[in-house]
Amino acid sequence: MTAKPTVLRDLPADLQQERLPQHVAVIMDGNGRWAQQRGLPRLIGHRRGVDTLKELLRCCRDWGIRALTAYAFSTENWGRPLEEVEFLMTLFERVLRQELREMVAEGVRIQFVGNLQALPHSLQAEIERSMEETRNNPGIQFTVATNYGGRQEIVQACRAIAIQVQQGLLQPQDIDETVFAQHLYTAGTCDPDLLIRTSGEMRISNFLLWQMAYAELYITDALWPDFDRSEFHQALCAFQSRSRRFGKV
Ligand code: IPE
Ligand code: IPE
Ligand code: MG
Repeated sequence: MTAKPTVLRDLPADLQQERLPQHVAVIMDGNGRWAQQRGLPRLIGHRRGVDTLKELLRCCRDWGIRALTAYAFSTENWGRPLEEVEFLMTLFERVLRQELREMVAEGVRIQFVGNLQALPHSLQAEIERSMEETRNNPGIQFTVATNYGGRQEIVQACRAIAIQVQQGLLQPQDIDETVFAQHLYTAGTCDPDLLIRTSGEMRISNFLLWQMAYAELYITDALWPDFDRSEFHQALCAFQSRSRRFGKV
């Protein structure tokens, strides 16, 4: 991770820069309910959710947060109606294509985590292009979890490690937490300090199971399309009020 920017834009006075989370993860939940409450199709909620994510990314950058990880599509979300799945895949692809130039200009480094090979080929191509074009950017690291499942990630790490052992490249006694983490999709990124979930659900839904070991959890009833700067500000205030002990006294 690179050094913090020295000039922060509009950081609220009650937030202390040195006590901000380095890495924020979000479970963007409630798009469907947001739309249904307005008598609109669920898909409209997803579209509005993209605007919320763009604004959150900008806010993280302004306030000097080094990494943002957003859960966009879980391995379980394939179980939704085909129309919704297809809409989401097309939406991801279109948004990536439309936003890439601006993200390059703003120095964002984009990363995708998940089982990307199972995504539509045209989406995979946009994903590769966005990661390639932003690889050396110095700004915020923006990770999008797409076809991501925490259990799937752990299983694929085990398989990769087993192959190394089988080939004699690694001894079983050398497998430790550091080695294991190096085989996760998130290798090289610090664990999230703060996990935000919108829409009031009290669960992790298979997100970052390993990485979340010591994350502070913040759950708000706000539905994702309504999660604005002021909601994020409240989440950060809550984070700063926590005492993170990491098992110590
Ligand atoms: C989150 O919103 C977006 C995705 C899972 C892709 P939902 O679509 O889960 O919205 P609700 O939970 O049904 O309201
Ligand atoms: C979690 O939301 C997945 C994403 C936000 C991508 P879901 O709406 O799929 O989670 P559950 O079904 O309520 O647990
Ligand atoms: Mg949901």
